[in-house]
Amino acid sequence: DEETLHDWIVAAKAELGERVRILGHFYQRDEIVRYADFVGDSFMLAQAATRHPEAETFVFCGVHFMAETADILSGPTQSVVLPNLAAGCSMADMATIDQVEGCWRELCAVLGDGPDADGRQPVIPVTYMNSSAAIKAFCGRNGGIVCTSSNARTVLDWAFARGRRVVFFPDQHLGRNTAKAMGVAESDMPLWRPHLLNGGNTVEQLRDAKVILWNGFCSVHKRFTVEQIERARAEYPGVRVIVHPECPAPVVEAADGAGSTEYIRKQIEAASPGDVIAVGTEINLVNRLQGEHPELTVFCLDPVVCPCSTMYRIHPAYLAWTLESLVAGAVPNRIAVASTVATDARVALERMLAARP
Ligand code: 13P
Ligand code: SF4
Repeated sequence: DEETLHDWIVAAKAELGERVRILGHFYQRDEIVRYADFVGDSFMLAQAATRHPEAETFVFCGVHFMAETADILSGPTQSVVLPNLAAGCSMADMATIDQVEGCWRELCAVLGDGPDADGRQPVIPVTYMNSSAAIKAFCGRNGGIVCTSSNARTVLDWAFARGRRVVFFPDQHLGRNTAKAMGVAESDMPLWRPHLLNGGNTVEQLRDAKVILWNGFCSVHKRFTVEQIERARAEYPGVRVIVHPECPAPVVEAADGAGSTEYIRKQIEAASPGDVIAVGTEINLVNRLQGEHPELTVFCLDPVVCPCSTMYRIHPAYLAWTLESLVAGAVPNRIAVASTVATDARVALERMLAARP
């Protein structure tokens, strides 16, 4: 039961001490967050993996691509474990390395693969953190970079300083929302559908493009709608609406602010007693923020609860099992990115770490 699990986790943590650091994403359930040594958005968690030399092992309470990133950025003698290997991300799965390489070959054939007269590349690959290590490595090898929702704009500025166009994997919404905020017209952002020739675009569309958007999305965030925002505004005049930039563009435009999970947390921290805030993101984070701030009214825009089912797969029973295995000297569920992939992925990730939020 819950109490026994709690006792096991606390005892194992005490035994392991500083050798093991538990990292947790903001979307983790409360029963996990309470044991985390560090909680953050995906940028902060990537940084955290570079900042704890005392740890032999990071227990990563989040999803697979985040654990891969922690493995790539942590030291060579440190290991990363994911308590439940079934904790993936359906958006990250929407782009495979074979599809991305196929897209790149087609783009190079249409746009050329050498710099223009002014030294800029025809296209720079940018991948959202929510992608496999293989895709990050592809970006590292091809003059590209990784971004998260907290630094996407800085990263696109970096890319446009080096190239005429960007191809953005795999979240079309983060790509579109960021580029729109920078003044790029939607007509200059063709969608790339991986199963069609030239992604379903004409050669002219690709030549005129500024940002080519991969056809991926988050099934949690695509549920948010403008109607929900209108309903919240009708019911609570003066409500402040904050959403994650994985939401569709009309939702981001109807909101009062959009940003990463850390941005959302900071907005709530900065609110004044009595404020009403409607949030368009994963429910575990929204409920926790309401719990921490009884002086505010904080609620999720989606009336039908909106959890990330894969984040939720990290259950305290898996955490207890993982920690007990570590006490016994085993390293269970290790996420070890092959060194050939890790070397190139690190290039793209280090470019990203230099582009602060
Ligand atoms: P953050 O970078 O904002 O933590 O987002 C990660 C994520 O998966 C959102 O769905
Ligand atoms: Fe992936 Fe969406 Fe879950 Fe984030 S909320 S981990 S993008 S499925």
